[in-house]
Parts: sequence; C-alpha cells; structure tokens
Amino acid sequence: MRWVRLRTGTAETPIAPAAAAPAAIALARSDCGALWIELMGEPVALRPSGGLWIERAGAFVAGDLHLGKGSSYARGGQLLPPYDTIATLDRLEAEVRALKPRLLILLGDSFHDPQALDRLHPEDANRLRGLAMGRRLVWAEGNHDTRRGVSALGVLPGEVADEVVLGPLTLRHEPGPGAQPGEVSGHLHPCAKLVAAGRGVRRRAFATDGRRLILPAFGAYAGGLNVCDPAFKGLFEAPPLAGALGDGRVHPLPFSALCGD
Ligand SMILES: [Fe+2]
Repeated sequence: MRWVRLRTGTAETPIAPAAAAPAAIALARSDCGALWIELMGEPVALRPSGGLWIERAGAFVAGDLHLGKGSSYARGGQLLPPYDTIATLDRLEAEVRALKPRLLILLGDSFHDPQALDRLHPEDANRLRGLAMGRRLVWAEGNHDTRRGVSALGVLPGEVADEVVLGPLTLRHEPGPGAQPGEVSGHLHPCAKLVAAGRGVRRRAFATDGRRLILPAFGAYAGGLNVCDPAFKGLFEAPPLAGALGDGRVHPLPFSALCGD
C-alpha cells in the first residue's frame, strides 16, 4: 500500500488552535474504495459503508444504526417506508461477510429508542442474533438505546459496554469534551458539504484529525450534522479531514474545501 500525506485544513479556517496538531494525515486508498488512515499510529480503514475496520484487532465498528427509526416515526403518525431496519442490516451483514471480523462493535444508538427492539420483526431480531455467532459482539451504549432506566440493550446476545479500549484507541458513543487523543466515537452523525460549479453535494462523512475520529451514522434513516457546525468546535486539534462517503469509495476532503449548510 502506498501512503501519501494530505493536509487537514488551513490556518484561515481553524476549528480549534492548531499549534500542537499534526500537519498532515497519512492516507492510502485500497481497491475496495476504503480510505486507510493512521489514527494515533494505528492503521484503520474508513469503509464506504460508513463503518471502520481496525485490522490489527480484527474489529469492525459501526455507529448509530438507529434500528427501528422508521417504525418509531410511524407510531407518531409520520409514515415513512418501513424498510430502514432491513436496509441497515443488509449493509451490516455485507460488511461482516466481507471482513469476517473477530470483534463487532456497535458504537451506540444501535436502536432508535428503548422500545425499538420490541417492534422489530422477529426475522430482523434473528439477524441481530446471528451477528453474534462466531465472534465477539459488543454493544456500546448510546443515548437513544437507554432512556429513563429502560434499555434496548442486554436482551440480545453480546456484551454491553460504556467503552472499548483497543491498543491506542478508545471507542465510545459520545465524543468527550476537548482533546481526546485516540477516541473513536459517533453520536454527531457528521456530514460534509461541497459546492462546485454552483451545485452543492452533501454526503455522510468521517471526521478526523489523525488523533480522534468521529464516524458517520450507519443507519439508513439517520440524519446528519454538517462538520462545519459549532457542535464540532473544539473537538479537533487541527481542522479535520472529512472522509465523504461516495458510491463505493471514501473521498478525502480537506476542511478548507467544505462549506456550511
Ligand atoms: Fe445517533
């Protein structure tokens, strides 16, 4: 694999003071469309699915599945095609078939609400049980999974955890405040927007400065928050690189190329 270094942003558009930040992130592209980066020195692949592959640990990570979001909206009278859970599970199973992970980490907000598991079609619940067969499955707890003492987690096979530590990386649902070197999180559902030739394109995206990483939402109906939004302010030591999800590949975009909504 050939590694190149790409600058993450410009001094004109800092999200946070960049004095201590690395000037560039090592990048390499693989034939499958994934973008490899070094995250605190650990080679990881940003997958076109929106999931993360940590090769040395044999771990696949997907955040914010929000299973049952369509049925949750239906209960409120907002009728959406009820196929989001099936579509999300199709993509998750495809990644498991392709990568054969020893460890599968669902990084929180796996369910849209604590009752979502009760609304799942039995076939979909069985598909979730199947993901735990032959591997270790960890459910990191997210704010949507558990509310007012009621949780969708702990019923299906697998372990429930607040966070998972893999070498230099700490994986948890919600980004911690300030610099968190080695943190992999979700929760914010980052998206990147580009405007070219008067036309705007907005895609789900990874956001990273090579020291921490925020995953895009994996769920079919999960929304997205522009990485230029103030919610990302202060999370990165340098303006982050966006790994925008394209058709079958992840596109590295420097922060200076992005615009707000
Ligand atoms: Fe979420």
